[in-house]
Amino acid sequence: MHHIFIAGAGYTGMAVARHFRSKNQKVWALTRSADKAAQLESLGVAPVVRDLCGASSEAPLKIPPAHFVVISLAPDERSEESYRKTYVEAVGRLLAAMKANPRPFLVVYLSSIGVYGDRAGAWVEESTPPEPDSERGRILLEAENQVLESGFPALIFRLGGIYGPSRNPLARLRKKEGESQARDAWLNLIHLEDIVGAMEVLFNKGKEGGIYLGVDDEPVKRSEITGWLARQPDFMDRVLPPGFKTDSTSGKRCSNKNLKALGYSFRFPNFREGYQALIHSAEL
Ligand SMILES: NC(=O)c1ccc[n+]([C@@H]2O[C@H](COP(=O)([O-])OP(=O)(O)OC[C@H]3O[C@@H](n4cnc5c(N)ncnc54)[C@H](OP(=O)(O)O)[C@@H]3O)[C@@H](O)[C@H]2O)c1
Repeated sequence: MHHIFIAGAGYTGMAVARHFRSKNQKVWALTRSADKAAQLESLGVAPVVRDLCGASSEAPLKIPPAHFVVISLAPDERSEESYRKTYVEAVGRLLAAMKANPRPFLVVYLSSIGVYGDRAGAWVEESTPPEPDSERGRILLEAENQVLESGFPALIFRLGGIYGPSRNPLARLRKKEGESQARDAWLNLIHLEDIVGAMEVLFNKGKEGGIYLGVDDEPVKRSEITGWLARQPDFMDRVLPPGFKTDSTSGKRCSNKNLKALGYSFRFPNFREGYQALIHSAEL
């Protein structure tokens, strides 16, 4: 039996915890919330309750020794200050506390394709050097480096936009803060179930120091998604975001080559299959 510690029982962390519990592994998960701790207990997952940035964050933190550690922390807000607190300070505290434990087999750090910045629609793969074009992107990269330089065997799993049950993907079609009209940017998506499925492959075959992109097979433009949705019978009477700036080739197209090379086969290889499943389960 493997012992698995999930640092961050959020949308993704909770799904990973559930999955490994269902495979009878011993699982612990970190949360700040007493309610969520009770929910974790009911699933057979041992909760670790602590705010890594709170008033008692400097107090000694005992975390369970585990064979595999998944770091899935995300800030509550998109401000640079919150990014720094969560991705640099909280992750740093966690890594420091882990030093008291026996060495894990592997730490999987969930990061973001945001470290590549905007590539005007060009393809990006694991070997492409990151070039963050915002302070938030630079913080994401700093956090990755902190993990890779921690002395633990670790790999980085850079995720695209996560969607799935209870996380409505339509939000990704709307304009971003500061934009007058949404740009017809390339999106790189991944269904929650594929993050969970890939995790098992990464535990077994992921290379120490490796970078893996957690995106499905088909980068897609926003306009293609709205066009497809508009053709679905269930969406005929729904209001979709209006047209996009057509002169835009912003974003990037991310390749999941390294993950595929480990033998992972996607349950939802493109947005159409993933969204269709959500439509069928009335989640979209
Ligand atoms: N969402 C996306 O589309 C996306 C895209 C690319 C990469 N990612 C990365 O994927 C990972 C998972 O994202 P997600 O959307 O599943 O995250 P999420 O649902 O927002 O969950 C974040 C988790 O971090 C925990 N957390 C945050 N600050 C904490 C602190 N100070 N102390 C202790 N725990 C703290 C939260 O604790 P509570 O349980 O107390 O709330 C929660 O469990 C993250 O690493 C994120 O950066 C996400």
